[in-house]
Amino acid sequence: MSKAKLYLQYEKQKLVLGPQKKALFSLVSNYQRPTYVYDLDILKERVQIFQKALPGVQVYYAMKANSHPQVLQCLHSLGCGLDVVSGGEIRRAQECGFKPQALIYSGVGKTHKEIRQTLEMGLEQINVESIPELRRIAKIAKEMNKKTNVVFRLNPDVDIETHPYIATGLHNNKFGMAFTDLPELKTVLKENSECLIFKGVSLHLGSQMHNLSGFRDALKLLRPVYEDLQKEFPSCDTFDVGGGLGIFYDTQEIEAEEKLLQDYANIVFTELKGLRAKIQTEPGRWLVAHAGVLLTQVQYLKKTSVKNFAIVDTGMHHLLRPTLYGAHHRVWTLNEKSENGTKKYDVVGPICESGDFLASDRDLSELQEGDFLVIGDVGAYGFVMRSDYNLQDPPEEVFL
Ligand code: LLP
Repeated sequence: MSKAKLYLQYEKQKLVLGPQKKALFSLVSNYQRPTYVYDLDILKERVQIFQKALPGVQVYYAMKANSHPQVLQCLHSLGCGLDVVSGGEIRRAQECGFKPQALIYSGVGKTHKEIRQTLEMGLEQINVESIPELRRIAKIAKEMNKKTNVVFRLNPDVDIETHPYIATGLHNNKFGMAFTDLPELKTVLKENSECLIFKGVSLHLGSQMHNLSGFRDALKLLRPVYEDLQKEFPSCDTFDVGGGLGIFYDTQEIEAEEKLLQDYANIVFTELKGLRAKIQTEPGRWLVAHAGVLLTQVQYLKKTSVKNFAIVDTGMHHLLRPTLYGAHHRVWTLNEKSENGTKKYDVVGPICESGDFLASDRDLSELQEGDFLVIGDVGAYGFVMRSDYNLQDPPEEVFL
């Protein structure tokens, strides 16, 4: 049997990252503070696998997942566009060499200023989230004497069985528009045909999707709606299937993730077969999560009557996912084994909250003060969600 593919693993008992098995040990000699460590070879491999599975589909990377300039430049060189959600992201995209035509502008709270910036630059399309937003875009476009492409983000009220905080395709979520909004949306389009060019529909059902049946249901629901709109608006030629494809944080089954991608691609091509449409997709996590790890140092080992705490120099202020979603990230020691056997640890941070934890009840080889730990798969929604709570210093970011 061939060996399972892994991005983070032990090689001769030392922890290594990426296809080129770069040793993480080399980083500790100059260690100053918690460090996000990225490997662009992993990112490149993931993008290429994604693009190969979805030929003809344009990838707009959701840059909220990781907006480091080197990550964006790498994606640019691989021919990706970007899904952006703020004026700040638009500026960063420009600085990294993306043309306005490579940007889709999403987000529920687009301000007057951001819409003006978008129209001034001529972004490829605006994914509209509400009727008042469409009216606002039309008003500003008229004032500026500009035209813009608009796509309607529809909310099909479909459950993808993910954490409630990252589900977005249900009617109790703030995202997208119900099919019952369409008559009024069409009226606004017709009243403003000199400045609004209707291009199509989009959806994004949420993040960390593993069961794809909701995604299939959503495409089945949206296809006839798209076809009807296309009859009325001949400019309609775009179908954006959103992002959200999940990864397996706890079991590290890379092959299973690639199989999930294949299933996702089959659903897209089956459900949208024969449709006159440019298909777009907005992946974030699937591309970038494995490409980053967080290096941290054990400050104290604290034993209570019921727990062994490893108190480290990073925490919820650098990696919020465990606290916010109860997310599981694997924790690794830099060396594979110690002679002393393993112990169960809660890995916790310095922040003055009991919710400040990175991992609970993990079997790790027996730790010493000063040891280094590596938190896996933090390339997506890691550094970007940091805060300076407790006025803690930010983490560093380095590329191997
Ligand atoms: N498109 C839109 C409109 C989105 O809102 C998002 C993510 C994506 C695409 C990319 O989704 P992805 O492929 O990365 O799942 N902080 C959370 C995830 C929030 C996702 C927000 N929207 C986490 O750490 O799990």
